[in-house]
Amino acid sequence: MELIVAKNYFDMSRKAANIISAQMILKPDSVLGLATGSTPVGIYDQLVEWYQKGDLDFSRITTVNLDEYRGLSPENEQSYHYFMMQHLFSRVNLPAEKHFLPDGMNPDSDAECRRYKGIIDSLGGTDLQLLGLGHNGHIGFNEPSDSFARDVHLVSLTEQTIEANKRFFASADDVPRQAYTMGVGTILQAKKILLAVSGAEKAKALQQVMSGPICPQVPGSVLQLHPDVIIVADEAASALI
Ligand code: GLP
Repeated sequence: MELIVAKNYFDMSRKAANIISAQMILKPDSVLGLATGSTPVGIYDQLVEWYQKGDLDFSRITTVNLDEYRGLSPENEQSYHYFMMQHLFSRVNLPAEKHFLPDGMNPDSDAECRRYKGIIDSLGGTDLQLLGLGHNGHIGFNEPSDSFARDVHLVSLTEQTIEANKRFFASADDVPRQAYTMGVGTILQAKKILLAVSGAEKAKALQQVMSGPICPQVPGSVLQLHPDVIIVADEAASALI
């Protein structure tokens, strides 16, 4: 694992965006694994700015997102579909048929897991997977648990995650209790992984991810097993490293 320490959120966003743009320039038909949450917003803003300047081209890129809430449609402002449209997809020349997320509205969850896994497999996995980090060490929506889930699966969100994510909803009661997520096996299949972390409240989780035991109670710790992980963390998040 390689740690790049950034001065602050803005610097973290630029450094992480630089790594994604290098990937896009070196391989214009890259499959990018994308993430949601507040951490990647600055990264997407930076990529959009470089696209607008003519430095980046998304026309041959394909994207697959990590996760989506079950029960939210793409039109729902709290869905990750909506988030991605708002922060990236509608602002760059990424063809509509080349971005993928789990379908939160599929009534058959097993079928949805199979469908989404099939899409990722048919693309040959991701060239670069962008990840954020949950306060409890989760990646995607792989919550702390007694075992690792390998493939795309449906999860029940922990109280801590519902609490952390309620800021995007009218109240905690409105946060969906379930979500689809890539499994840790899916994430580890990425050729390269870019973990972006910001803020003092993530410092403990980042310490556990980087130097704690590899265990499903800290899902991000599994990244220690991957041969090519770059962590871009601001000074506050890397304070315990
Ligand atoms: C959500 C997402 C994760 C994300 C995490 C951290 O639960 N499913 O992919 O990494 O939140 O979000 P934030 O960046 O807002 O702290």
